[in-house]
Amino acid sequence: MLPATGYALRDENRPYADDPAWTAVEVDFLRACHPLRTEAFLTGLHFDYVSIHSLELSVCSPDLPDVRFLDALVEVARENGAVAITDHLGFTHGAVGGAGVGHVTAPPFTQAALDTTCRNIEHIQRHFGAYRFYVENLAHFFRWQGTIDEAEFMVRVLERTGCGLLLDVTNAYANERNFGAPAIEFIRAIVPAANRVQMHLAGGFFDDERGRYVDSHSEPIPAEVWTLYEQAVSESGDRLDAVFIERDWNYPTEAGWRNEVHKARHHLLAATVVTS
Ligand SMILES: [Fe+2]
Repeated sequence: MLPATGYALRDENRPYADDPAWTAVEVDFLRACHPLRTEAFLTGLHFDYVSIHSLELSVCSPDLPDVRFLDALVEVARENGAVAITDHLGFTHGAVGGAGVGHVTAPPFTQAALDTTCRNIEHIQRHFGAYRFYVENLAHFFRWQGTIDEAEFMVRVLERTGCGLLLDVTNAYANERNFGAPAIEFIRAIVPAANRVQMHLAGGFFDDERGRYVDSHSEPIPAEVWTLYEQAVSESGDRLDAVFIERDWNYPTEAGWRNEVHKARHHLLAATVVTS
């Protein structure tokens, strides 16, 4: 079956949710869980595949995730008909309720961090039950000195926990631009270790002042990311469940919204024809 394609849902793209190429949706947990909301976030919309995206599970924290937060994620997933919940391979806080770091940040890639992360993910998966959990690779502002290569760390997490991989192709591209880590090598190393795969695509810009590529979700998806996407689709095979495009600033025209999701879907159709 063809993987589903779509967007992270925003007010700005909601008018185009009936596009025939838009078959999957990613719901931002913080948008969907407002306490004054009286109906499900997706009321009035229909998608083949729904995934809830979180920023605050902090799967690499030394403490287990807050059970109230896990319950809230499951409740939002249930009321919106989701089949999956996702978050990042990083941390946003130390102790539950403690100070936040302001952005999801990768841990130092060490054995201690690996053991703690796997313990947390196994706990999360037990709590989520039938809702499949996927973990996303990050774009880094900086990298800690660790003892395990990032790709190897991710492979061990995927193999030990059996969780899904949310492959952010643009994050891998950003790390190549900023740190010289070849994105295609990273993708080829981690994708085979995943039971199931989702993908993120987005566009950022190179900040000349900081000398860094910024994953800003503010630009069209660059050609290099489309090329990596095609390679990642090939690596994923029939384990790919859904592809989501992220756009949070500098919103495109209606044609821009429709074109990118059609392009993502067109490649899946072409790949299916080639491999079938
Ligand atoms: Fe992402």
